[in-house]
Amino acid sequence: MKRFKVFRVLLLIFCFFIGLGALYGGTAMLIKPDGSLLRMESMLPYFQVLPFADILFQDYTFPGIALIIVNGVSNLTAAVLILCKKRIGYVLGTIFGFTLMLWIIIQFVIFPANVLSTLYFIFGALQLIVGYVALVSYNQVNFKFSEDGYQYIDKNSKTLVVYFSRMQFTKRIAYVKANREHANIVELKTKERTEGTLGFWWCGRFGMHKWPMETYPLDVDLNKYSKIILVTPIWVFRMCGPMRDFIAKNKETLKNKEIEVVFNHFNPWLPKGAIKEIEKDIKISKVESKTTWLGHTFNL
Ligand SMILES: Cc1cc2nc3c(=O)[nH]c(=O)nc-3n(C[C@H](O)[C@H](O)[C@H](O)COP(=O)(O)O)c2cc1C
Repeated sequence: MKRFKVFRVLLLIFCFFIGLGALYGGTAMLIKPDGSLLRMESMLPYFQVLPFADILFQDYTFPGIALIIVNGVSNLTAAVLILCKKRIGYVLGTIFGFTLMLWIIIQFVIFPANVLSTLYFIFGALQLIVGYVALVSYNQVNFKFSEDGYQYIDKNSKTLVVYFSRMQFTKRIAYVKANREHANIVELKTKERTEGTLGFWWCGRFGMHKWPMETYPLDVDLNKYSKIILVTPIWVFRMCGPMRDFIAKNKETLKNKEIEVVFNHFNPWLPKGAIKEIEKDIKISKVESKTTWLGHTFNL
């Protein structure tokens, strides 16, 4: 995925830049604790408002050590973990963006306004954003769903699970549900573009306009089933476009069935409008709501 590659490199640049910079600054402070190597002698009085200043801030030894640990070793560790393809590297890289912002907030409080602090605060914020996007992308790239192991799915069941899923998060929920209910399962497919970043925006367009997204006919006969479980991700506070299309095309048939709906979403709450939209056409006997974050579904 292109987005992942770009943001991975950007995060690495931030981690190395901040990490090496902090290592350089901290070492310079330790070599010359009076701050003369960095021409920071005149800044020392500003530190005196901090707690324990009489012990910790009489020279640059403690600030140097703190800088090396908090912004130096930390960011370099994150960078190495990212290079070793470890997920924790992305988590740490994101957290250390936030740490840098906190560090600079202390500087905002004790130093007079200056360009360098403002710039580094912006770097921290950017690192946080870049790290988060890289982490989300990492999870998307590495999320693998296998249909194996759902041994109770039954093609001859009277219950059918119908689902749509872009990134397979909703697919996993649908499979767990079908397995529990010993139901049959079928996927809604569309010829519209739904994959990748472009697909996200394209789906967003359908979501914003509450448009149905045309789906291919299903290769199952709905009349065979007495209960149908619809499993849909939320797109812009409503069901996804393909599910809207499926309901619109089959509402007369669905009216005679027991209908359950499972919504999957990112926000920790389910927008009530999503239920209401479906209830305009069909009666729902049970609603479930799942929250998925970074590939992890709570209450799965
Ligand atoms: C176009 C689009 C719009 C979305 N809008 C919302 C939203 O309004 N609220 C929300 O909680 N999640 C929203 N999401 C997030 C998805 O519901 C969530 O990521 C879900 O896990 C996706 O499942 P899937 O990958 O199986 O399709 C949106 C996702 C897409 C693609």
